[in-house]
Amino acid sequence: MPARISGHWTREKLHFLECYAPAFVRACKSAEGGCFIDAFSGPGWNEDEQGRFKGSPLIVTRYNFRDIFLIDSDPANTEALNHLDFDSRVEIMTGDANELVLVALCSVPDWLPALIFLDQNSNQVSFATLREIAGWSRQRNRKPELLVLLPTGMVLQRLFPRGRPAQHTHVLDKVFGSEEVWRPIEEQRMAGGLRRGSIIQALTESYMTLLTGTLGYVEQPLHRHIRMGGERGVFLYTLVFATDHSVGRRTMDKCFRHRHSGQGALF
Ligand SMILES: C[S@@+](CC[C@H](N)C(=O)[O-])C[C@H]1O[C@@H](n2cnc3c(N)ncnc32)[C@H](O)[C@@H]1O
Repeated sequence: MPARISGHWTREKLHFLECYAPAFVRACKSAEGGCFIDAFSGPGWNEDEQGRFKGSPLIVTRYNFRDIFLIDSDPANTEALNHLDFDSRVEIMTGDANELVLVALCSVPDWLPALIFLDQNSNQVSFATLREIAGWSRQRNRKPELLVLLPTGMVLQRLFPRGRPAQHTHVLDKVFGSEEVWRPIEEQRMAGGLRRGSIIQALTESYMTLLTGTLGYVEQPLHRHIRMGGERGVFLYTLVFATDHSVGRRTMDKCFRHRHSGQGALF
C-alpha cells in the first residue's frame, strides 16, 4: 500500500484528530454519529523515519460516524484509498477540496452534525470555501466544526520576507478572504513592530477573528502551533478549531493540551 512520506510532526497533528474524533462521535450519538469530511485525505498511510503510521482516513474510519467522505485531488491517492476496502459509510472523491466539500455536505441531511478536517499541504483552502461551509447548515448555530491546518510557518510567513513588502498577495487574499485582514499585520511588520513568531501569532489570531466575526462561529476558536523539533522549534503550521458547541470546544482544548508523546499538559 502506498504511503505519504512525512515528517515526525505529522504524528503530532494526527494525535489531535485521534483524540477528538471519538469524542465527536460520542457527543453526536443521538444524531447517528454525525459525518466526517476529510478534505485532504492522502493515500491512507503515512511513513516517517520510524516507520508506517495511520493517516486521517484510517484513523476516522475506526469510529462510528454515519457518513465519511475522503477527498483528494491526486487520483493515485484516491485509488490507494479504494484499495483499503472501507465499508459502505465511506465515499471516496477525487478532485478539488474547495468544490467537493460542498458536494459532500449537500449529500447529507442538513441536521447532521459535521466535522471537517482541512489538512492542506500548502495554501489550497480558500476563505470563500469556509464561508460556504458556514452557510450550509439550516440552523446557523450548528455549523460544521472545522479543524483547519493553517500553513503559518510553511507558507504564510514566507510571504512576508524580511525587509521587503509582502509577496504573492493574491495568496493572502485567498486564504484570508480580503486584503483588509492581513494588511494591518503587514503595516505593523514593515514599521518594525513584528518579528517571525509574532507574525505567525498575528496571522493566526486574525484567522480566528474571521471565524467568529465573519462566519459567526459562536465559541472562541482554539489554535495549536506545531513546531519542528518540539515546543521551541521552528513553526511549521497551526491547527485552528472552530465550533458552535461549548462541549466541542472544551474537548478540543483538552486534546490540544496534550502532546503526542503523552508527556502531559503543555501549559
Ligand atoms: C497533508 S496531505 C494530507 C495527509 C492526510 N490527511 C493524512 O493524515 O495522511 C495533503 C493532501 O492534499 C492533497 N491535495 C492537494 N491539493 C488538494 C486540493 N486542492 N483538493 C484536495 N486535495 C488536495 C494532496 O494530494 C495530499 O494528499
